[in-house]
Order: sequence, then C-alpha cells, then structure tokens
Amino acid sequence: EKGGYDWFMLKEIAEQPQAVADTLRGRLSEAGEIILDEVRLTDQDLRDVDKIFIVSCGTSYHAGLVAKYAIEHWTRIPCEVELASEFRYRDPVLDRSTLVVVISQSGETMDTLMALRHAREQKARVLAICNTNGSTIPRESDAVLYTHGGPEIAVASTKAFLTQITACYLVGLHLAQVRGIKFADEVGAIVAQLQAMPDAIAKVLTTMEPVRELARSLVDVNTILFIGRHVGYPVALEGALKLKELAYIHAEGFAAGELKHGPIAVIDEGTPVVCVVPSSKGRSLLHDKVVSNIQEVRARGARTIVIAEEGDEAVRPYADHLVEVPAAPTLLAPLLTTVPLQVFACEVAAARGLDVDQPRNLAKSVTVE
Ligand code: F6R
Repeated sequence: EKGGYDWFMLKEIAEQPQAVADTLRGRLSEAGEIILDEVRLTDQDLRDVDKIFIVSCGTSYHAGLVAKYAIEHWTRIPCEVELASEFRYRDPVLDRSTLVVVISQSGETMDTLMALRHAREQKARVLAICNTNGSTIPRESDAVLYTHGGPEIAVASTKAFLTQITACYLVGLHLAQVRGIKFADEVGAIVAQLQAMPDAIAKVLTTMEPVRELARSLVDVNTILFIGRHVGYPVALEGALKLKELAYIHAEGFAAGELKHGPIAVIDEGTPVVCVVPSSKGRSLLHDKVVSNIQEVRARGARTIVIAEEGDEAVRPYADHLVEVPAAPTLLAPLLTTVPLQVFACEVAAARGLDVDQPRNLAKSVTVE
C-alpha cells in the first residue's frame, strides 16, 4: 500500500535513495570496476560498437537525453537519443556494430517495442534497460540490464527515471572500461561518487517543505517555464513534463541558450521560470552562462525558482526562490536536481485537488500507439 503517504507518487519519490542503491547493488567492485555479467553481450561485442542510439518515450526518453552527455564523454562513441515513435517510422543508419539501448520502465511500451524490432531487423544489437522482469521488451532484446527500482504504481514516473539514468551510467562506464579507455581520475572518481548518490538524494528529500509551500502558492498560474543547460536541459524537460501531466498546467522546458531564439518572448511580469543551475565548481563556464540566463529572464519580469548547489552564492541575488541541493559532479547532478521538480509537480497537482496517481487521459503503460 501507500506506506503512510497520501499518494503512491510520494511514496515512490521517497523510495528513490533505495531504488538507486538497488540499481547499483552488486554492479560496482571495490576496485571501481563495473560488473555487468548479466548483460548478455560479450566484451568483444562491446568493443565493436561504433555508434549508440538510445530510444524511448516520455520520461524514459529524458533519461536517455541525460545519459548521452555522460556516455559520449566517457566512451567517445557517438550517441544519439531518439523518441521511439520517430525512430520506428524512419530509416536510421544501423548495422551490426550499432548498439541500440531501449529504455522502458514497463517493458511494454508499444512504440519502444516496435523501435527495438526495427533495430534488430537491421542487425543492430539491442540492450534493454527495464524495470519490469520478464516483460516483452527485455524478452525481445539481445541483452538486458534491470533497474531493480521496485514496482512503480503512480502513472507519473519518478524512481524509474533516476534508476534509468543510473543504469545508463553503468553501461557507459562499463563500455569505457571494456574498451580500455584509460580511466582518467575523473571517471574513477565518478564510481565512488555514484555510490554516494543515494545518501545525497535522501538529503534532498529532507529539505522539500519550502518546495511544497512554493507549489501551493502557484496553483493558479497559466504557464511555468523550465530552463537548463547540459544535463540540466533534459532535467528541465522532465520537470515540465511532470507538471503538465499531473497539474494540467502548461509547462515547457527549454535549453537556456535557446531563450533568445524565441522562448524569451513569452516571459511576462510574474511568469514563473524554474532554472536548473549546474555546479559552480569545475565547469564554471556552464554555471556562469546559466546565471546570466537567469538574470535575463528576471529582467523581463520572470519570478525565478532556482535549483542550485549548496553554497552557490552567485545565483542568490537573482533567485526569487532558491532550492539548494548537495554538491555533485555535473554529470550526476540530475539525480538530485530532478527531485524538487517531482515534489513540486506532485504538490501543485494535489493543491489543485487532482488525482496525483492517476492523471486524466494517461495510462501507466502505453501498449497502443
Ligand atoms: C511520464 C511517464 C511516461 C513514461 C512513458 C514511457 O511520467 O511515465 O512519459 O515514461 O510512457 O514508459 P516506459 O518507460 O514504461 O516505456
């Protein structure tokens, strides 16, 4: 049952530290090696890969978008991310050395299943990242990596998203290892930092009361925008999707760098803009760019809701509302910055008197087109 929570979605948000720990369990050795023995692809198969496609729908598509940044960075293999509904009806360039990663929580999504069949017909190897044991998508794939996130009941995907990102990262790190890419300090450190993420997610969960309060003050807005860069961009897309599907409020995610190419025109006095800010350490150029985007939207009247790393003083003057998350490497930050956006959407929907677990017009598993 709901374990004392009002909604399955809240329960599943709270389960995220455990879910991510379960995705990692048994897959990281003490020496920082990634152990994916259960994936039925030989090391030679993995060495032969010269192109990766990640194919999925909805939230699972957003997980793929996040993973692309990490996979290309670690493996140097070109990686494209595509919606299954598009991929299945076009003529993608695939062959034996293409690895197609299909991501599906349910393992039954029709478009994703058809995309995987389309890929296999062209001899590509298909690896499924899936949360549901024995479902159709892993059964039809060449290989499978289960996320082990436990059943997800709420229609809106939460813990599935975090565990999908985690599983994709394991695949990326494993590929890099198998292919003998010399593990730079950065990548070795990532393994240790991945193991620290469940605690960091748990910490984020303890600080969500102000987010709930903010959400309750925004029940009557017409539109909310979400902006981010790099991995923060798909996080913005995911935040917008959660709000649309649960609260029925118009929401859109943008790459912050695109603002000037159109979206900034919709910003009016008081328009809420959620800004996902990268770490100020390391890639500080990225951070500074987002900070200037925040200044730009604020100058046009936006009410800024800023998700930033603890101790980021540079964003403070421009944040009408500041939500702090623990420090994490840029590539791992989505495991933290997504959480307030989930809580936010859930609370706006609940405050509007809506059924959080079963939004109108949506089904948990989309087995038709
Ligand atoms: C959004 C949501 C959907 C699913 C999508 C794919 O909260 O749940 O967008 O992510 O329908 O579903 P799976 O992952 O089961 O293939």
